[in-house]
Amino acid sequence: MPHSALRRLAATVAVALTTAATACANLGGLNLETVGDPDQVTYVKLALNQTESHPSYVALDHFAQRFSERTDGRWEIDIFPNEQLGSQQEVLQFVTSGAIEMAIVSGTQLENLNKDFQVLNMPTTFGSIEHQMSAIRDPQLVGELFSSLEEQSNISVIGGFTQGTRNIYTSDAPLDTPADLSGLKIRVQESDMHIRMIELMGGSATPLSYGEVYTAIQSGVLDGAENNEVSYTTQKHSEVAPYFNDTQHLVGLDYMIMRHDLREAMSEEDRAIFDEEWDKAMTEHTQLWGTETTKAIEDAKAAGATFHHVDQEAFRAALLPIADEFLTTDYQRGLYDAIRATDPEEK
Ligand code: GCU
Repeated sequence: MPHSALRRLAATVAVALTTAATACANLGGLNLETVGDPDQVTYVKLALNQTESHPSYVALDHFAQRFSERTDGRWEIDIFPNEQLGSQQEVLQFVTSGAIEMAIVSGTQLENLNKDFQVLNMPTTFGSIEHQMSAIRDPQLVGELFSSLEEQSNISVIGGFTQGTRNIYTSDAPLDTPADLSGLKIRVQESDMHIRMIELMGGSATPLSYGEVYTAIQSGVLDGAENNEVSYTTQKHSEVAPYFNDTQHLVGLDYMIMRHDLREAMSEEDRAIFDEEWDKAMTEHTQLWGTETTKAIEDAKAAGATFHHVDQEAFRAALLPIADEFLTTDYQRGLYDAIRATDPEEK
């Protein structure tokens, strides 16, 4: 077995042990004392719930290589795809407890730690992927939100990858209007707001982790799910829910999170390199998103899926009340309005 494969195996076992030993936060985790020592290699575990062909894996893999090269091998980021280290809900806990160092998690996971993240998970917040990516790169807009978990949960939010536009796919029949969702059970991420999102669109929602969706639809427990084209194809959901309906109800967002104490322990020079390379990773990911979405649609069609054009205006109108229902504080309203004001489509 090559050295890197052995290290990854050892890391997986260490995470399992750490999880079992809940009281010992640092068992199997990093020794922060040696971070920044030029003679030591810092090994970082990064959890991802996507396959190796997903744009997030590709952009992270390139990022890890560039960061290692530019720090002369002092940093090694090992990416664990396919939920190998657990579901997003679990890996979020592992970052907080110090069992792992980094993860990509959906915004819906962070809203369970701080409700203010709901503002960026709301169907009416971002007008496009371009709008989303430019807003989340603006520290004036999101700086306070992104640092809000540092003290409470030891989590630094570094930035984000788009989830593209999310749509509803169904197992038995295509959709045309919200009325067609009546009586259908649709999987959502673990988010109160997304449960409500499906209700407003006319369906009934079941929160579930990503890796459980295929079997739940296959067994008939659920009638469908909502996601982007890339996840639809890479998770093979097209096999069990062959009707892809372009509701385009949400531009979703994933975050790169990191142990805050590890980020603090980095030398200033390494942190600057990390941030530069991460910025390139976000750019590469957004570029890949376009090409991979086109490819995912072709692959899904080849596998037998059909793509349906819905009454988008009817779905959009159904979702309008969501902002007033979920923006409950002045901070949330202010953040929402400030982000909306930067949408080029609105100007
Ligand atoms: C997308 C997103 C993931 C998320 C998933 C889901 O694939 O990129 O972070 O976990 O949707 O619906 O659970």
